[in-house]
Amino acid sequence: MAATDLVDRFGRVVRDLRISVTDRCNFRCTYCMPAEGLQWLPREEVLSFEEITRLARLLVERYGVDSIRLTGGEPTVRANLTTLVASLATLRTDDGPIDLAMTTNGATLGLIAGDLRDAGLRRVNISLDTLRRDRFEEMTRRDSLTRVLDGIAAAQAAGFDPVKINTVVQRDVNDDEIVELAEFGRDNGLEVRFIEWMPLDASGGWAGDAVVGQDEIVARIAAVHPLEQVAARGAAPADRWRYLDGRGTVGVIPSVTKPFCGDCDRIRLTADGQLRTCLFATDEFDLRAAMRRGETDDQLGERIERAVGTKWAGHRINQVDFVRPSRSMSQIGG
Ligand code: GTP
Ligand code: 5AD
Ligand code: SF4
Repeated sequence: MAATDLVDRFGRVVRDLRISVTDRCNFRCTYCMPAEGLQWLPREEVLSFEEITRLARLLVERYGVDSIRLTGGEPTVRANLTTLVASLATLRTDDGPIDLAMTTNGATLGLIAGDLRDAGLRRVNISLDTLRRDRFEEMTRRDSLTRVLDGIAAAQAAGFDPVKINTVVQRDVNDDEIVELAEFGRDNGLEVRFIEWMPLDASGGWAGDAVVGQDEIVARIAAVHPLEQVAARGAAPADRWRYLDGRGTVGVIPSVTKPFCGDCDRIRLTADGQLRTCLFATDEFDLRAAMRRGETDDQLGERIERAVGTKWAGHRINQVDFVRPSRSMSQIGG
């Protein structure tokens, strides 16, 4: 069937679906989760692989979504993830296979990177906020730096290319490591993307002055390793710079100081089957209940079209009327 574009009120076309496969995580990053007390979704509320694949197929085959990213929580804590990857990897648009990617904390990649690649996963982005073992333990509440570094190496060895590193920067927490982390990327053929901290932590600890903005991040790196900006970001969240000495690229995701909502092509599916049109959306559309009531693909499609019709122009982090979403990043899916 020919693809029908999902277009919102502002003319943006949906091309990218981010699927959270679980709300659980094996880390407890301070900027995301509380140490304890977050309620996990009951198993029966989490979409099955069949349900996820059904929605993904509808979005790809009918609506021209051409890129799917698996997120969490931590996606690799979902049992048998490679089975889901294998079934999503068979999806095709009129133009060919989809860009199937995953965002992970990397802790288990040492064990499963090869299997994921064999199952058809094409790209991985791995979170790494510090290279110091004690700080890593403070930030994630787990002593797992070595496992993550092994996971990054395993992802490269399995043939994932590019492997990108996501680094959330918080002032006075890890901002003194910006240059070291950039150099870790340069030395290991990794594109490091520094991420401005967003108000999505479960504990509500975010404050504007803890955000280190894009201009400051770029200036600190460029002072040591000169940079030139790479043109045209498109719909991707990251602005990118090239090292003038040819040693790769570095990115910044400036969600707070330079929001990129005007080019957003994303929708999100939470682990419990709620469709969200923005990371910061306050409304969710319950596709799980609709599927379990026996709705047809046409009915589900109408729901999805209606949901996309409500997508707003952009988040309002910097405005006085900003309302935090009621769920944290780990529950929505980064
Ligand atoms: P690529 O396809 O490799 O560019 O992936 P990506 O950058 O879209 O995905 P990833 O999951 O690695 O996202 C990195 C970070 O970008 C996330 O942790 C968020 O901080 C941010 N991000 C992704 N999507 C959105 C979005 O829709 N809005 C905002 N504000 N931030 C987003
Ligand atoms: N602000 C910005 N990025 C965040 N992430 C998690 N919480 C936040 C936040 N509050 C990032 C992680 C990872 C992805 C899943 O989301 O570092 O890259
Ligand atoms: Fe887990 Fe990712 Fe949240 Fe860290 S940022 S607690 S790894 S979901």
